[in-house]
Amino acid sequence: MSDVTLCEVGPRDGLQNAASLMPTEAKKAWIAALAAAGLREIEVGSFVPPKLIPAMADTDEIVRFSRTLNHVKVVALAPNLKGFQRAVAAGAHKVTFPVSASRKHSESNVRMTPEQMVEEVRRCAAERPAGVQIEGAVSTAFGCTMQGEVPEDDVRKIAGALGQFCDSVALADTVGYANPAQVRRVFSVVRSDIGEKLQRAHFHNTRGLGLANALAAYEEGIRCFDSSLGGLGGCPFAPGASGNVITEDLVFMFEAMGIATGVRLDALLAARRMLAEALPQEPLYGHMALAGLPKGFRAAA
Ligand code: COA
Ligand code: ZN
Repeated sequence: MSDVTLCEVGPRDGLQNAASLMPTEAKKAWIAALAAAGLREIEVGSFVPPKLIPAMADTDEIVRFSRTLNHVKVVALAPNLKGFQRAVAAGAHKVTFPVSASRKHSESNVRMTPEQMVEEVRRCAAERPAGVQIEGAVSTAFGCTMQGEVPEDDVRKIAGALGQFCDSVALADTVGYANPAQVRRVFSVVRSDIGEKLQRAHFHNTRGLGLANALAAYEEGIRCFDSSLGGLGGCPFAPGASGNVITEDLVFMFEAMGIATGVRLDALLAARRMLAEALPQEPLYGHMALAGLPKGFRAAA
């Protein structure tokens, strides 16, 4: 049993922002390698109009393929009812909805106000079939490149609304503005509002604080984290957004602390090599991959 659950979001958050397309067969092989490394949740794509994000045009096929992998919860992102219906038809186990706390980001990302987006998710929740989980992710919960400061009260309002009908709620630092003190404060206040519904942290490493923020959220009781192999990622509709907290480094940090992730670092590095081969032009980040494991390193039991 692992102490924390990491959801690998590279195939969605990473590839949606990559300069070149990863061929469908390479995606499948990469996702299989991620699963073989022990990742038990993978956000494999998004159901958005293919014209808008061509890298996600094959998500139906990718979800169907990912369902054949043992022990993997197949997660997909959807921005509206149509995307949700496509996700359900393809067989996603869980569907995540981005609900921005920043009015400007919401309108740029989903062409809806935050309130309209909450209502869209409510409609999806009302018609969800048994067995399909729904997560509401509060995007730009720690600041926004377009709006600047995002008031904590706006984050609480959206998280509170989503907590009424979603199975779980996440707080996302879409553009890498968060700091650990803010992370502790915002997670703590949202936890006091919606309790155990608040489950996940989604951080970007834009200003180098991804790991520090993940640790702060862990100390606040959070046990589910999104991360991306090689630190790929970023929202194409949020100027200045860059990669996620790096999976390899996050696994290393937790394992070195004695917190089991269930992920094998050697197999993760093999998946990273596949990623580098499939997207040779894409810069990959990460300290662990560069420096290697410390001599005598022992993973958590
Ligand atoms: N999947 C496929 N096609 C979709 C779709 C979906 N989820 N949602 C809408 N469409 C189609 C419509 O059928 C319509 O097609 P048509 O022109 O052939 O009639 C067209 O797209 C426009 O539909 P509309 O409802 O007017 O959407 P919009 O143009 O206002 O865009 C969103 C709204 C939500 C679909 C779009 O902003 C979006 O996908 N945002 C997500 C962006 C994203 O992935 N960000 C990064 C992750 S956080
Ligand atoms: Zn993100």
